[in-house]
Amino acid sequence: MVVKNDMTADFLRSAYGGESMAHMRYLIWGDAAEKEGFPNIGRLFRAIAYAEQAHADNHFRELGDKKVDFSVTAGAVFGMGKTVQNLQGGIDGELHEIEQMYPVFLHTARFQEEKGAERAFHYALEAEKIHAQLFQEAQNAAKEGKDMEVGNIHVCPICGHTVADHLPDQCPVCGAKKEKYKTF
Ligand SMILES: [Fe+2]
Ligand SMILES: [Fe+2]
Repeated sequence: MVVKNDMTADFLRSAYGGESMAHMRYLIWGDAAEKEGFPNIGRLFRAIAYAEQAHADNHFRELGDKKVDFSVTAGAVFGMGKTVQNLQGGIDGELHEIEQMYPVFLHTARFQEEKGAERAFHYALEAEKIHAQLFQEAQNAAKEGKDMEVGNIHVCPICGHTVADHLPDQCPVCGAKKEKYKTF
């Protein structure tokens, strides 16, 4: 399905820009966490970076195959700091998406009867809720100078659903089978 209304299309492009930058930022912060002696937090950043890539991918596809140039306005957190600060950047960015950006985008897509965009925004919103929690757990550990205690981190490549340790039989957000998940 391809988007028809301009405002939902603008929101898809903005969300694509935001997710693309989040993807890259988390890889950079993940490397920094590893160098700081927090390999599990580094792994968490990499897993969540992959989830943001899935979101960017979904938003991009909904824009269809027409090749057009756009300047994109998208929110992003900037700043290279210690891992505790970088995690705060992660928490702030995720909370912005959860509390403001995706609810507004989702309502607009629904109002404009853009089913594909509605699904893409819904997938992202559900994953970001989990990301904010995981970053908070990581920050709690890092504040005490400890690495996060976490086993395998699994990410659904379809919707970006992210789960630590126990893998469900199917994705609770998009229904993908457990075999589809990518493990970090
Ligand atoms: Fe996220
Ligand atoms: Fe999923």
